Amino acid sequence: MESSRLASIIFVFYTIILSIRSINCTENNNLVTNQPALFVFGDSLFDAGNNNYINTTTNFQSNFPPYGQTFFKFPTGRVSDGRLIPDFIAEKAQLPLIPPNLQPINGSNQFPYGVSFASAGAGSLAGTFPGMVIDLGTQLNSFKNVERRLRSELGDVKAKRVFSRAVYLFSIGSNDLFYPLTANSSLFQSNTKEKFVDFVIGNTTSVIEEVYKMGGRKFGFLNVGAYDCAPAALILDATNIGSCNKLVTELIDLHNKKFPDALRRLQRKLSGFRYALHDYHTSLLERINNPSKYGFKEGKMGCCGSGPLRGINTCGGRMGQSYELCENVTDYLFFDSSHLTEKAHRQIAELFWSGPPNVTGPYNLKALF
Ligand SMILES: *[C@@H]1O[C@H](CO)[C@@H](O)[C@H](O)[C@H]1NC(C)=O
Ligand SMILES: *[C@@H]1O[C@H](CO)[C@@H](O)[C@H](O)[C@H]1NC(C)=O
Ligand SMILES: *[C@@H]1O[C@H](CO)[C@@H](O)[C@H](O)[C@H]1NC(C)=O
Ligand SMILES: *[C@@H]1O[C@H](CO)[C@@H](O)[C@H](O)[C@H]1NC(C)=O
Ligand SMILES: *[C@@H]1O[C@H](CO)[C@@H](O)[C@H](O)[C@H]1NC(C)=O
Ligand SMILES: *[C@@H]1O[C@H](CO)[C@@H](O)[C@H](O)[C@H]1NC(C)=O
Ligand SMILES: *[C@@H]1O[C@H](CO)[C@@H](O)[C@H](O)[C@H]1NC(C)=O
Repeated sequence: MESSRLASIIFVFYTIILSIRSINCTENNNLVTNQPALFVFGDSLFDAGNNNYINTTTNFQSNFPPYGQTFFKFPTGRVSDGRLIPDFIAEKAQLPLIPPNLQPINGSNQFPYGVSFASAGAGSLAGTFPGMVIDLGTQLNSFKNVERRLRSELGDVKAKRVFSRAVYLFSIGSNDLFYPLTANSSLFQSNTKEKFVDFVIGNTTSVIEEVYKMGGRKFGFLNVGAYDCAPAALILDATNIGSCNKLVTELIDLHNKKFPDALRRLQRKLSGFRYALHDYHTSLLERINNPSKYGFKEGKMGCCGSGPLRGINTCGGRMGQSYELCENVTDYLFFDSSHLTEKAHRQIAELFWSGPPNVTGPYNLKALF
């Protein structure tokens, strides 16, 4: 594949990992008061800027304009014009914005409400964009460091209370399912699609179980969104621009069919494990297909990028290429070739927070907080 085409299908999913670098149990600290903390793991959908601090390429970074233009007025590294889903969830939970783990901090007690470990492009498989992103297993290791530090500072009992009251958000899997399109993945080539998806889900549930072992009880998950129909995917077949990518559709459908079963198995196995699973796939596809019903004028073309449907990942001048930027971002569902606008994130966050059981279940986030 030519490089612009490759770049266009690279997702910049951030994984937010909470890192509490220094917690002082004797000071006014919300982790030891009554407010549940928020720990975030995953990909660019949730990343608040960790990839600004890793050695990677601009394909996996968004710390340049016009990213961040609407809300923050400067590029934070979030892959959108403004806030992401966890930013809205934090607001609803009456928490401040949850900072990225790798953000340099001064002094102690900088992350009293939680921290984000997310990394653009990350997957649950270590082999997804290796060396370019912070994969889910590495995010877990960072979380373990936070846990150890907190335990030594607060003592086992108080630390356990912090971790059992906290809510853990996950957005992971999209990059794993796209990766075989961008590179020769031996894991994909030497297994059936079903088995490959089982590996993705197996690695995700292993991390969930580890967080549970450290005291985590309340989890929030998104299933994999309809990214097979994002602008970047709609232009993959030059002879059929505008059609969703069939291979990715098949993998996403398999994943989203198996993932709820895996969560139900965890619930049976792990006492006290409670979760909110939002059917993000349905919410996103609904908006792609019926944008006007949700206040958008455009559901398929990106606001920022180049080529047909602005589906080439050049937003902000990645790879030194020129790009187009729409006039009114609030008309658009997609900000760039595969990431949503702040307006869309706000709508999804609302459904994740308080959606009815057929949209977010068995609990919603409001109930978990
Ligand atoms: C924690 O707070 C106490 C009292 O304010 C202070 O004496 C101590 O140095 C602090 N410890 C750390 C690690 O900041
Ligand atoms: C960053 O990665 C590139 C390519 O892998 C490598 O050549 C370079 O030495 C790395 N830089 C640092 C500071 O690690
Ligand atoms: C930390 O301190 C340095 C030097 O004083 C400053 O440049 C930087 O902005 C500070 N970082 C934060 C997150 O406050
Ligand atoms: C996969 O490998 C084949 C044969 O080596 C090569 O022609 C092809 O370009 C590779 N595909 C990708 C996506 O790297
Ligand atoms: C995790 O993924 C690896 C491949 O990277 C696979 O060998 C392993 O079996 C997976 N683990 C689970 C629990 O599925
Ligand atoms: C942008 O679009 C929104 C919704 O369509 C509209 O309410 C707003 O007035 C527009 N803003 C500008 C500057 O055109
Ligand atoms: C959920 O149920 C409500 C009615 O209870 C219905 O209006 C809505 O369309 C359903 N949503 C989905 C995604 O099935």
